[in-house]
Formats: sequence, structure tokens, C-alpha cells
Amino acid sequence: MTDRTESVKDNDILVIEGLKKSFSGNAVLNDVDLKISKGETVVILGRSGTGKSVILKCIIGLIRPDSGSIRIFGENFLELNEKQMSSLRIRVGFLFQGGALYDSMTVRENLMFPVIRQPGYKGADLTAKIEEMLDNVGLLNAIDKMPSELSGGMQKRIGLARTLMLDPEIILYDEPTTGLDPVTSNEISHLILDMQKKYGVSSLIVTHDMPCARLVSNRIVVLKQGEFTAEGTYDELERSKDDFVSGFFKFE
Ligand SMILES: Nc1ncnc2c1ncn2[C@@H]1O[C@H](COP(=O)(O)OP(=O)(O)OP(=O)(O)O)[C@@H](O)[C@H]1O
Ligand SMILES: [Mg+2]
Repeated sequence: MTDRTESVKDNDILVIEGLKKSFSGNAVLNDVDLKISKGETVVILGRSGTGKSVILKCIIGLIRPDSGSIRIFGENFLELNEKQMSSLRIRVGFLFQGGALYDSMTVRENLMFPVIRQPGYKGADLTAKIEEMLDNVGLLNAIDKMPSELSGGMQKRIGLARTLMLDPEIILYDEPTTGLDPVTSNEISHLILDMQKKYGVSSLIVTHDMPCARLVSNRIVVLKQGEFTAEGTYDELERSKDDFVSGFFKFE
């Protein structure tokens, strides 16, 4: 993969400060601060409907926050023009819930799509890259299948392979294992870990899947009333005396 470390001024891949967002007068994000370093994997825990997906969508520019700042690779994301924003966005992978593959395209075409629509694409043969990424997720044999022929877990793996096609330096995952059986969830969690090790990508993962959080996270942040109220390793937060925090760890 491309080594872009030179363009990263320091170790901070993502720095969010004072992020606020309301919808029709209802405050969802009150004061979100978050920092992610190069190669770090951070998990966001929080109750349903409390703004976890909104945070991810602000980071990729799908939702504009009311105030606050988002620095990605040292650039002030919210102050960039549309062209600058899209070139920065290429470096940020986003894995939607469900994989979000294009139904009318084969797996191969799905993986080609994000690359060929880049303004700088000059028609290079992508076969080797597509095969490498499918091999990463153990689905090389699905290359000419349609998404409808694949199970939900396979679609998520293909979604991850497609995200990797653009060599992202940080990947945002919105509930990557939700709706999957425990064995398949565990496979996806291991894939996330493998990709972190192989390519040194940073990751921000929203999940309710505690075994996944335990396996992949270097650090966990807990969202409550629009702010991160607790932060620590899995083991630290598991021992938290705060009922709200410890509630996430009582899953058995
Ligand atoms: N585009 C939008 N327009 C209006 N309200 C929105 C929009 N996006 C999110 N919201 C509201 O913001 C709140 C937080 O939504 P969000 O999707 O971030 O929750 P979440 O923490 O991801 O929940 P879940 O765990 O169920 O996915 C919800 O009340 C939701 O209705
Ligand atoms: Mg969500």
C-alpha cells in the first residue's frame, strides 16, 4: 500500500474538539472531544440513538456540525473547500452497516468502483489489487459473484475489501458486526485487527459487540448525553465504578 506517513505532520490522525450538533432544537452532540493517533484503534460505546453514527458522519462530511473543529491529518476539515474535502475523504475509509454494496455490480466491479471514479484514475489494471484485497478478507473465490449471492457476513467482508481499495489511513466502522452470528462476528473482528496490523491503519469503531471491542480496541470512549464521559482500555473500563459505564460490560 502507499506509504503516506510523510504527509502526516505528527502522530495525530484525527483530532475532534468541542463538536456540537442539534437536530430541530434537540441537542445530540454537546461537546465531543476525541483524538486518534496513527495506528490506534478506538471504540465508541453508547446507547442507541445517542449520536454515535452522527459523529462518524460528521467526520466524513455527511453531516455538518453546528460548531467545533475536526482536524484530519492536520487539516481543518470543516474549513476546506469541496475539492479539498473530497481529496481528504479518499484517505478516510467508511464501512457502512450492512456493507452497502451496489446490487447491480459484481464483487469485482464493486471493488473497482471507488477507484475508477477518482479524478486521477488513468485506466490502470486493478486486477492484482482487487485480488489482494479479496484475499485479505478470505473471499477471492467470490470475485465474479453478485452481492445477492452472498451472505450478510460475506457482504460485510466485501465491504471491508472495497474500503481498503483506496489505501485509507483511517477506517470508520459503523457497527461492523451487528446482525451477524457470534462466529461470523468474531471473524470480522479478527479481520479488523489483521488489517490494522498489516497496513497500520487507524480505526474508529462504533459497536455494541463487546467481544469485538475487547479484541480490537486500544482505547474505548463512552458517549453519554452528547459527550465522552469515560475513556480507558477495555480492562480499565470494565472495572469502572460508574454504573453507566460498567453496564456495557455486563453482557453475559
Ligand atoms: N440527518 C438527521 N436528521 C435529523 N435527526 C437525525 C439525523 N441523523 C441523526 N438524527 C438523530 O440524532 C440522534 C442520534 O442518531 P444516531 O444515528 O447518531 O444514533 P446512534 O447512537 O448511532 O444509535 P444506534 O446505536 O441505534 O445506531 C437520533 O435521535 C436521530 O434521530
Ligand atoms: Mg448508529
